[in-house]
Order: sequence, then C-alpha cells, then structure tokens
Amino acid sequence: MSTKWISVLLLLQLSCYFSSGRCGKVLVWPVDYSHWINIKTILDELAQRGHEVTVLKPSVSVLLDSNKSLGIKFEIFPTSISKDEYEMVFTEELMNFVLELPKYPFWKYFSKLQEMSMEESDFSENICRDAVLNKTLVTKLKESRFDVILADALCPCGELLAELLEVPFLYTHRVFPGYTYEKYSGGLLFPPSYVPVIMSQLTDKMTFMERVKNMLYVLYFDFWFQTFNEKKWDRFYSEVLGRPTKLTELMGKADMWLIRTYWDVEFPRPLLPNVEFIGGLHCRPAKPLPKEMEDFVQSSGEEGVVVFSLGSMISNLPEERANVIASALARLPQKVLWRFNGKKPDTLGPNTQLYKWIPQNDLLGHPKTKAFVTHGGSNGIYEAIHHGIPMVGIPLFGEQPDNIAHMTAKGAAVRVDWKTMSSTNLLSALKAVINNPFYKENAMRLSRIHHDQPMKPLDRAVFWIEYVMRHKGAKHLRVAAHDLTWRWKTLCRALEKREWWCFPWGP
Ligand SMILES: *[C@@H]1O[C@H](CO)[C@@H](O)[C@H](O)[C@H]1NC(C)=O
Ligand SMILES: *[C@@H]1O[C@H](CO)[C@@H](O)[C@H](O)[C@H]1NC(C)=O
Repeated sequence: MSTKWISVLLLLQLSCYFSSGRCGKVLVWPVDYSHWINIKTILDELAQRGHEVTVLKPSVSVLLDSNKSLGIKFEIFPTSISKDEYEMVFTEELMNFVLELPKYPFWKYFSKLQEMSMEESDFSENICRDAVLNKTLVTKLKESRFDVILADALCPCGELLAELLEVPFLYTHRVFPGYTYEKYSGGLLFPPSYVPVIMSQLTDKMTFMERVKNMLYVLYFDFWFQTFNEKKWDRFYSEVLGRPTKLTELMGKADMWLIRTYWDVEFPRPLLPNVEFIGGLHCRPAKPLPKEMEDFVQSSGEEGVVVFSLGSMISNLPEERANVIASALARLPQKVLWRFNGKKPDTLGPNTQLYKWIPQNDLLGHPKTKAFVTHGGSNGIYEAIHHGIPMVGIPLFGEQPDNIAHMTAKGAAVRVDWKTMSSTNLLSALKAVINNPFYKENAMRLSRIHHDQPMKPLDRAVFWIEYVMRHKGAKHLRVAAHDLTWRWKTLCRALEKREWWCFPWGP
C-alpha cells in the first residue's frame, strides 16, 4: 500500500479517535413524524463522525425513510399491525385531538386525553412486542454488540432493549404530560410553587390563584393521569425479562436525558447532571430557496412574506376553518406561503400560495420573512427562534399550547384560538407581530440567547452520546434519589408510587 493511502486511512481513523475516543456502534429506537425529523439530525452527525448507526424500523413506519439516509443502517422488522392501521392511529388520533378535544370542558377534555393515551400506549406496546419477541432480531442485535442505545422516550421499548442487550442508553425527549416520568424515572424536580407544570399553559410568574391551579394540575397528573398503561407495560417487561420489572424502574436507568428544549423556551428550573438541553439542534443557516419559491418571495417587495404551517402531521383542515384562515391571509399586504394539502379554500387570496411541503428552516431564515404562523410544535418554534422571527401561534395538541404560552410570555408570539378564531382575530394577531417592533425585538433577543451557548446543541447531543460510549454509561451522574431506602420508597409507593412527595423531604 502506498504511503498516501496509509495516511488517508490513518486520518480517517484518527478523526474518530481524536474527536470521540473511538468509533462506536449506536442502536436507535425512534418515533415517527416530527420526532424522526429531529433525531435524524443527530444520527446524520453521528454517522458523519464515523459511528455506525443502526435504526430499528417498524416495517409500517411513515417518515423513517431508508432511501435518503446515507450512512444510517435500517434494521426493518415486521409488525403485527398494517400500514393503514398505523397511519390511522396517527391521523385519526390527531384529528380527534384537533377537532374534538377543544369542545370539551376541562374534566372531559382530560378524560378523553386519558383514553387516547391508553390507546397510544397499547399501540406502542404492540410495536415493542413485535421487536423484542422476534428472536431472530434480538439475537442479531445481541451479536452486533452495540455500545449505546439512543431511544425516543415517548414510545417505550428503548429501555427494555438496553436491558436485553446490556448496553447503556440515552433518551432524546421533549416532554411527558405533567412531567411525570421526568420526575419519577428521571429524578428531576419541578417545585410547583414556581415551575409551571406542562399542560397547564401557565408561566413562571404566577399569582396565588395560578399557583393553586398549578398545584391542582400537579396532583392531577401525579394521581390520576397515566401517559402509559403502566400495569400492562410492567406485566410485559416482567414477562420478557423473567423477573418482576417496572417500566418506570427501567426508564430510571437512563444514563442521560437529552431534552429538546433550552432556556430560550423554558423558564428557569432545577436540573440534574444527567440532563442536557439540546433544543434547536436541527436548525441550520438558511439555504437558497427553489427558484420558483424565491421568485414568489421576491415579488413581495418591501412588505415581505408570512410563512404558515401547522406541522408535519396536519395535512387537511375542515373547510370552514381553512376559509377563515384564507380570508385573513388575503387581507394582508404581505405574500403568504402556506403549507396546506387539502382542497383549495374558496376565500384564498392572490397573495397566498399553497404548498404541499415547504423548506421551513430556509424560509424562516430568509431576509424577507416577517412572521411565522405555527401550531407551536417544538421543531418549528426552534426554527423561528433560531432565525429571530416573531410568531402567531395556533396550538393544536400536546405540548403546543404550552410552547405558545412560553413564547407569548416572552413577548415573541401572539396566540389565537384554533376553534374560535375569526378572520379578524387572525388578521389582527398577524398585524401585531408584523408591525409592532416589540415582537420582533423579543424574537431577536431569544435568538441571541439561543445562539450564545458554549457548545452548539447538536455538538452537545453528540458529545453526550460519545461520552456515554466512552464511559460505558454515566451512572456517576445519577442522583441518589434513585436509591432511596426501601422505607422511603414504600412510603412513597403508598402514596400511589409517586416519589414526588419524597423528593422535598427525602432522607
Ligand atoms: C425508495 O426508493 C424506491 C425506488 O427508488 C421507491 O420506490 C420508494 O418509494 C422509496 N421509498 C421512500 C420511502 O421514499
Ligand atoms: C424477525 O425480524 C426479522 C428481521 O430482522 C424478519 O426477517 C423476520 O421475519 C422476523 N420474524 C418474525 C417472526 O416476525
């Protein structure tokens, strides 16, 4: 071999040795749709740094696209549900959320949410069963000797795989309803006196009555609401491992929690050494737009453009709502790029173009963009913060209302209500964020906070994944709250297994 080739080989090896200690093998338990869009950024970066990345892909998944993923291996396993059922669960659930839930009064809302969570829980459990009960698959995975598992916490299974394959694991995660598993499995503290619980849409500046409300939410999520059907999961995990096992206990073994948020979106609260914020890791500088789109954007002149998207899952809207939106947009002097897949609304103005898909990050980074109308998904919020674009929030489900509540409290957004808004409401919200410099200034302030970090969020995510590989776990970062004596645990369990009570007064 010529010396030239040897040095190339050496360099290739060194690039990995230098940056990370060594190249590792990463197994990924992903979640579809926007979660995949987010985690994919990390996987691409890992692959580029020379790590071997293998994604466990249910054969029915929608966005997990094996074609466009250079350097990422997909281990596809057959599932007991069909592709139609799979997509139905997502689209139907979602339409339920969007169309039905807002109609309900508070208690009905949450009991319906509970019902749907149980369905989702069973659905995830079936997919997990299809993976871990497939002996061929598990044997193959064992033989591959992975160094680490990166799991999306929203659909359990990653922690079970970690136990079966005896490898450390990290979670990538946004939020659980009421922060329950972050508390009981992650050990994080959320003092209800100044940390607004997620789903409450409160901010950190609470009046006495709001604190009471916050406390009620905390109690509700601690004692009534269940994101996962834990009894079923516990039975399933015990059956697979052949010893009594709890879902929460295995989740508590996570070496690191990489949480897809940061202090630009969050209100200050206590953290733990094995929790890192990685919000906005998928944001990049804007790339040039496709020619046609660029021409349309340029045609807006001084007025600029508005970008409108309700996310990767909502493709269709009820006609009446679509018309309300379209007629508001038609009255703007700006041009509008609207990501919309349904029937063209009758009230659509000549200033509005519909697109099945938009390069959202590139559009938000375009100098002509004045405002972003968003459902408040975390990915979109971060792209807007990254580029300093003020928002109009039309939150639909999940943590979106809270994301928008945070943005509103920080002065970077105006919220309108999806179900009750009129054209005039939407129009005046848009005019406010476009014409009142208050919103732009605050969006720019958040943007500066977001950019001013010692390490970019993507580098931080990769650093901690490599860190866990290097140290074969990160148990030294775990708080001893996980090991409270059995008496304390029993006491806590007596209070519905909720260790929240113990943290403030633990021994
Ligand atoms: C992958 O590529 C094949 C052939 O090029 C195509 O038929 C298939 O639809 C692609 N899959 C996805 C998910 O885009
Ligand atoms: C198990 O998974 C493999 C892919 O790794 C697949 O080829 C096989 O059909 C699966 N077996 C069963 C019983 O589903």
